[in-house]
Amino acid sequence: MIKIGIIGAMELEVEALQKEMTVSSVMKKAQMDFFEGTLNDVPVVIVRCGIGKVNAALCVQILADEFRVSHIINTGVAGSLNAGLDIGDILVSRDAIHHDMDVTIFGYQLGEVPQMGFREFKADQQLVTLAMDACRKANPDIHVMSGRVISGDQFISSKEVKERLITQFQGDCAEMEGASIAHGAYLNGIPFVIIRAISDKADDSAEMDYPTFETAAAKHSAALVKELVSSLPHSVSFLLNTNNLLKT
Ligand code: ADE
Repeated sequence: MIKIGIIGAMELEVEALQKEMTVSSVMKKAQMDFFEGTLNDVPVVIVRCGIGKVNAALCVQILADEFRVSHIINTGVAGSLNAGLDIGDILVSRDAIHHDMDVTIFGYQLGEVPQMGFREFKADQQLVTLAMDACRKANPDIHVMSGRVISGDQFISSKEVKERLITQFQGDCAEMEGASIAHGAYLNGIPFVIIRAISDKADDSAEMDYPTFETAAAKHSAALVKELVSSLPHSVSFLLNTNNLLKT
């Protein structure tokens, strides 16, 4: 069965979606509230995971074990690392990397979790395409692009750190959960996509910009997620590729 797990780090990021869903049950686990029900008639579980990579990873595992979700969408805000991504724009993940993983001393690539053999967790291509389409529909005036999310347990707010991250990872935006969600989804074999609206430029202006633009950015991201979830059952290619899910 299709069941979409929707994760936001903060209340702001999930409250707009929770208001619009029909809730059938609420389960509390690891201090997170999992709202199960439907959004535009599509089965969903919506949860606020809290900030940072540990919270995000725990949340994915609970969605996998307790709710058997078929897909995961992460919605939220991020700092821009790409001059072409301004505050208010939206980035849909092509892939995600942990920027704070460094075991280069033993020959691993910077950002690679040892013994994984790669450092980029690739988003599901179908979800990426559908998310881009949904964004153009839900937020026609907003610039959307697909690119690389880089994540670490760090709020990026200096020009020097930003420049280093761009050089080392070629990231398009920085946030604090995406790579963990991607990593957990990968380990559980669950297709995922990360959708982030830009709230700041991850430089010396981030401290000022973030609180000012966070609310509008989170709303754009949520509007896109709602449109994406609604479009899933109507997407022919999505149905064909998830045929086995529909039969079970
Ligand atoms: N989320 C939003 N802006 C961010 C930034 N600059 N660094 C990390 N996470 C963020």
